[in-house]
Amino acid sequence: MRGTRTPARHAVCVLRESSGTRYEGVVPVTGNIFDKALGRATLFRNKEHLRHSHQPMKLPHREREIEQLTFNLVEALNGQIPSNMILYGVTGAGKTAVTSFVCNQLVEKGQQIDRDVFAITVNCRQIDTQYRVLTHLGNSMLEAHEVDEIPFTGWPTDRVLGELVKRMEKRAGVYIIVLDEIDHLVRKAGDDLLYNLTNLNSSLKSARCCVIGISNDLKFTDFLDPRVRSRLGQQDVVFNPYDADQLRDILVQRSSSALHAEALEEGVIGLCAALAAQEHGDARCALDLLRVSAEKAEHEGTTSVAIRHVRTAQSQIEADQITPVVHSLPTQQKLVLSAILLTERTGARGVQTGEVYDVYDQACHHVGKAPLTARRVSMLISNLDMLGLITARTVSRGRYGRTKEIHSSLPPNVDAAAIIQDAEPDLEPIFSSKYRHQSRL
Ligand SMILES: Nc1ncnc2c1ncn2[C@@H]1O[C@H](COP(=O)(O)OP(=O)(O)O)[C@@H](O)[C@H]1O
Ligand SMILES: [Mg+2]
Repeated sequence: MRGTRTPARHAVCVLRESSGTRYEGVVPVTGNIFDKALGRATLFRNKEHLRHSHQPMKLPHREREIEQLTFNLVEALNGQIPSNMILYGVTGAGKTAVTSFVCNQLVEKGQQIDRDVFAITVNCRQIDTQYRVLTHLGNSMLEAHEVDEIPFTGWPTDRVLGELVKRMEKRAGVYIIVLDEIDHLVRKAGDDLLYNLTNLNSSLKSARCCVIGISNDLKFTDFLDPRVRSRLGQQDVVFNPYDADQLRDILVQRSSSALHAEALEEGVIGLCAALAAQEHGDARCALDLLRVSAEKAEHEGTTSVAIRHVRTAQSQIEADQITPVVHSLPTQQKLVLSAILLTERTGARGVQTGEVYDVYDQACHHVGKAPLTARRVSMLISNLDMLGLITARTVSRGRYGRTKEIHSSLPPNVDAAAIIQDAEPDLEPIFSSKYRHQSRL
């Protein structure tokens, strides 16, 4: 009732701390909100050691590859030019880790025995044009007191190359130029960069250079001019995917410094290794799985990581990977995916192209979009299949021709309808409208 509030009740909301600070309507907090979180027992000795960026000092099951690189690059310490190399292998096979380990050791040895050996690594996924790679190489050769940077744009390629040669000559020595993820740059911008870099030695007198290209794509050399191919691929090293036993050893090695000894229950490492081996033997995947599992266990406040934490971590990682894919689909792809989900909502499994098209057509009308032809929609279905969001199997229906049998393959904890509506609120009516579904014969 109005006017019945007593002065005493009002006073409850006015607190005065000993310091004299006055807070209105706030319950007093003793200490800082982070105190509890900070004081919590942790399962990690050093979480960094499970991250991709950490450079381990031991790389189990890569002895042969390390040996091959070492055998070739030792030439640099003798003042000779090592052969150019191409390293191939699926992602997470340890190519970057092995190369940076060997290069660090090489440079360290060079300093010990007073030989000028330099290693420069460029990630060609991030630095993805010839001009930018050359500028990056040139500018990374500047000493701290030199400020003469090559501009990020504007010079003709010849001039940047000339400047690069000048700088290499000034410092002399042997340069190991590592082009990581080179397949990405070549696919985008062609092989001019490789042509120019593998030709540098003809312009160098006091300096020498060797190029190591690292590719995630085994067919990468198909994109190369035969001359570039033969100059770059003087030595090829293939990194095979790790199997479950090898991944287990890698995880044991990495977790020994990353986690407390008693933090892992029986079978946890084995499961992380087995799941990652099923993907394609990706050490990165295995490390992520172990790290996220330990984070889950820690969050729960348990004293060790159990199998169930690995299962939860796996579905979270899967959902985290799929969500942005669904979110960024073009609108028409979203409409087709929605039509598949809506058809499946009726309880149908193995829905056919015709049924999906029918619902897609209605969905387009509900949101005021012009529907594409059945042929285009069939192509969009194949795209969704390639992205791994659905599986579409072509089946023959005798004289009725061929059709696709479609199943969505989204993990249960991914709510694609919610993601689609979140990404494009205009599409909300798709999921709230009524549909006529074809009757199945
Ligand atoms: N043999 C290994 N021992 C320990 N860690 C490894 C090993 N191979 C790969 N890793 C780790 O796995 C992650 C992915 O390896 P990376 O070298 O980046 O693979 P790639 O370059 O082939 O895609 C990195 O964190 C790396 O340190
Ligand atoms: Mg790599």
